[in-house]
Amino acid sequence: MKIALLGKGKTGGKVLELLLDGKIPHTIFDSKNIPSADKLLGHDIIISFLPGEAFKSYVPLLVETKIPVICGSTGMTWPSHFDADLVEKEIKWIYATNFSLGMNIVHQMILLMSKANKIFDNYKFSLNEIHHIKKLDAPSGTAISWKSWAGHEMEITSERIGDVAGIHELTLSTPYEKISIRHEALDRKIFAEGALYAANKLFSDKSLAPGLHLFQDIVELELNKK
Ligand SMILES: NC(=O)c1ccc[n+]([C@@H]2O[C@H](COP(=O)([O-])OP(=O)(O)OC[C@H]3O[C@@H](n4cnc5c(N)ncnc54)[C@H](OP(=O)(O)O)[C@@H]3O)[C@@H](O)[C@H]2O)c1
Repeated sequence: MKIALLGKGKTGGKVLELLLDGKIPHTIFDSKNIPSADKLLGHDIIISFLPGEAFKSYVPLLVETKIPVICGSTGMTWPSHFDADLVEKEIKWIYATNFSLGMNIVHQMILLMSKANKIFDNYKFSLNEIHHIKKLDAPSGTAISWKSWAGHEMEITSERIGDVAGIHELTLSTPYEKISIRHEALDRKIFAEGALYAANKLFSDKSLAPGLHLFQDIVELELNKK
């Protein structure tokens, strides 16, 4: 499997580390080595951690190559009918705004916790998130997703401390017990690991249908296998 890595910044750089560790053949594309149809020829999978707008400007080129794409770029919208276009051209792409594999396990756990109202009369949800001091938004996008997965009203508290990569803790409290789900990102490699998981899936599992797939759907299929 030969990978074309678009972007080797804070996140793409972590993909590069894993490619080097695994001795996986690859080519790096950035502002100094702009991708083109010729240069992409011979690669099996394209992984993008370019900023959203830069990625969007390359979408027609990437479609033209017909090479499967793993897209981690965020902050852009997909062209309309894009899924149908990929289906028609028989091309497979996978995207996610969060490529953490563990987040998919958390999703399943929160769905279970969301059923608390079926057995408790008196309960309360709360969520705390901690990130580094340079993070501008609060609450985090992940905290907002967790709240929507839980489907219950809750107070979200945000703390900004040092260089913390990301800690989220959801707590269900009743008068006599407390249950917490805690996820701590230790390294941006969690995104790189998920992107490479998706790349291996695209490369080895030919049963995946053409189209634009959400990474979470693919991982949940795997989690729910008997
Ligand atoms: N899906 C996920 O799990 C996930 C996780 C984390 C981040 N992200 C997203 O990934 C993207 C990148 O984030 P980052 O923090 O890694 O960014 P970053 O550190 O700024 O790195 C951006 C990379 O893209 C390259 N680049 C920028 N414009 C380009 C262009 N027009 N043509 C070619 N290369 C270009 C840069 O190359 P030069 O240095 O040569 O300009 C650099 O290597 C963002 O959209 C972010 O939100 C997604």
